[in-house]
Amino acid sequence: MLHRRTFLAAAAAAACSPALVARGRTLSALRERAGDPRDAASLASDEDFWLPVQQAFMQDRSIINLNNGGTSPCPTHVHDALKLRLDEANRLPPPYALWQLQHPQYEVVRTRLARHWGVDAEELALTRNSSESLMICQLGIDLKPGDEIVTSTQDYPRMLAAFRQREAREGVKLVQVKLPVPCEDDGEAVRRFEAAITPRTRLILVSHVINLTGQILPVRQIVAMARARNGGIPVIVDGAHALAQFRFSIADLGCDYYGVSLHKWLHAPVGTGLLYVRRDKIAPLWPLTPAPPGRESDIRKFEEIGTHPEANILCVAEALTFHQLIGDDRKEARLRYLRERWTARLASSGRATFNTPASPTHACAIGNVRLDGLDTAKLQAWLWDKHRILTVAILHEECTGLRISPSIYTTLDELDRFGDAIEHALAHGMG
Ligand SMILES: Cc1ncc(COP(=O)(O)O)c(C=O)c1O
Repeated sequence: MLHRRTFLAAAAAAACSPALVARGRTLSALRERAGDPRDAASLASDEDFWLPVQQAFMQDRSIINLNNGGTSPCPTHVHDALKLRLDEANRLPPPYALWQLQHPQYEVVRTRLARHWGVDAEELALTRNSSESLMICQLGIDLKPGDEIVTSTQDYPRMLAAFRQREAREGVKLVQVKLPVPCEDDGEAVRRFEAAITPRTRLILVSHVINLTGQILPVRQIVAMARARNGGIPVIVDGAHALAQFRFSIADLGCDYYGVSLHKWLHAPVGTGLLYVRRDKIAPLWPLTPAPPGRESDIRKFEEIGTHPEANILCVAEALTFHQLIGDDRKEARLRYLRERWTARLASSGRATFNTPASPTHACAIGNVRLDGLDTAKLQAWLWDKHRILTVAILHEECTGLRISPSIYTTLDELDRFGDAIEHALAHGMG
């Protein structure tokens, strides 16, 4: 009985813990506001609506995190769910907990993600990140020496490294197109990809959102153009930053492969990703870790990674529920509103050059700015050392500037303090 009493006392204490009570209040406030009938654009600047969203994240507010493009925190209740799932796997015999209890629940996550992003669940693999998803495609598609792959000079370094390895190992050829910075002319972006195609082109890799600048590329048009060339050139889309930042459906893009990290804009636990492979492309695509015979056409063949925590993927379900409660359109409108707030302030200095288009169809949460008279690398270090503001210095041969990526938990006060710091640096230097 002592055990039972101790357990009940602990449970009662936990139920009354101020942190849990506060968390419950935050979520019910969010649930109430979720029913607000106003449109996304009106709600984007309504601080009452965004307060419980901000409070759903237990962040150290002595730091201003403007690098959510790197990876993002989970809302506290998602992180709590993660800890519970990890505890469960350790409390029960792990072979039972991981493989019999938890792993089968992947199917719910798969189905829900597929429904939300408009594809068939049998075309979605659950992975650890964009890198894994994209490597499966980049390394698993058969190519012959002399075959050409087209991508851009602004793609993510790891993805470029994968193709360079294939160049060195198999004699394929990587062709990189240069895109304007910024690029508001979709036709121009498509033309540049098209101009790089030769009769030997067998594959295209394109970023949905360029990580350097936040530029959104016209993926649907690039895919349509590729379909009409060389009997249909397959397109891999690097969607690391796009999914859950703004609304789209993967099916609507028409691409063959789409790889994403869910720990960026979905706010799922670190180490979660997804891979979409068109049904007819599953069988010919080699997995990174070979799967047992009989699974050639099964999307799950890409998930054969050996023993690993199942908790991360299971908690994607909690993150998706949170995302759905906020709503894709509201989130997208808020992220644009935040970008417009800091960009307008910096633009008023007359010394800001933006490497990201202003147009809402070409950018959402992420912006890149260069400030005349301020060295980008020194500015990034000064913002961190002096103000605890986390940004990224982009030092690429085609664009130099600070990458700024607030998120839904960022407050206006935090963005304004960033603006104050930049104005100070412009007026008085970085002393
Ligand atoms: C465009 C792009 N692709 C791929 C990745 C790799 O993402 P991860 O490290 O989550 O695999 C990143 C990371 O920031 C990225 O920006």
